[in-house]
Amino acid sequence: MNVDPTNAGQAQAWDGDEGGYWATHADRFDRSLARYQPEFMAAAGIRPGSAVLDIGCGTGETTRAAVRAGAASAVGIDLSADMIAVASSRALPGTTFVQGDAQIHPFPDAAFDGAISRTGAMFFGDPGRAFANIARALAPGSPLTLLVWQPPDRNEWIGALAGALAGGPPPAPPPGAPGPFSLSDPSVVRAVLAEAGFGRIEVTGVSAPMHFGSDVDDAHRFVLGLLGWMLEGRDEAGRRAAGDRLRDTLADHLTPEGVAFASATWLVTAVGSGGG
Ligand SMILES: C[S@@+](CC[C@H](N)C(=O)[O-])C[C@H]1O[C@@H](n2cnc3c(N)ncnc32)[C@H](O)[C@@H]1O
Repeated sequence: MNVDPTNAGQAQAWDGDEGGYWATHADRFDRSLARYQPEFMAAAGIRPGSAVLDIGCGTGETTRAAVRAGAASAVGIDLSADMIAVASSRALPGTTFVQGDAQIHPFPDAAFDGAISRTGAMFFGDPGRAFANIARALAPGSPLTLLVWQPPDRNEWIGALAGALAGGPPPAPPPGAPGPFSLSDPSVVRAVLAEAGFGRIEVTGVSAPMHFGSDVDDAHRFVLGLLGWMLEGRDEAGRRAAGDRLRDTLADHLTPEGVAFASATWLVTAVGSGGG
């Protein structure tokens, strides 16, 4: 796979263990975001017969949703071979899945008339270049629809889970670094998209509970698999204490629908100029 050097670290993670975990737990991750899916797809406004690009498509739920919503074709691109393999195994007529770096992938010019990304567009090493490449791949006037996380202090799940494992507040990510919260400041989103040639940029807050498991044991296993790397270097007693703190936090968030934490996203819509 041809990856821009600015994305080498993300490629190593997503085309490695992290992507492997997401691929194995595809349904769980889809369920965790399920409350966002109707609003996200409504905002995408998939047009009948259109050609849609799904950026950072993962295991392809949103790519499949695009053809179900009437797109004639939908191409999902993702760094992770494992996630692309799951997506391909679930393909629908009209869906195509490609392993690649959306920042530099040689999409044909103006090949798509809509682009979507559900929490897949915050990991670019050079966001300006990535969104310019996406703008180039869109026919003029085509909509771009992104779901991105609001800042960590509005996302109870990250503070609570990482805090339980770390035994204190999680370290703040460096500003501007690729990662889940890199587009959490609307002024950054607006600036990056405008620079890449997008217009009519709108940023709307959407909040929903995020689901982590059917009960405390189930969520505990899942979160330890996801964030267990935070315990590297701890001795047995330290690991046990962190596991216990996590269990307490999960128990505090057990609802009749399972373990859920508050979360908040920005739904970003914009229109491409076809330039880039
Ligand atoms: C948080 S996951 C979201 C996956 C999927 N959109 C979903 O909603 O389940 C982020 C995805 O973005 C992908 N990704 C990150 N950087 C990328 C890049 N430069 N090009 C293509 N995919 C990328 C990752 O491999 C990962 O699958």
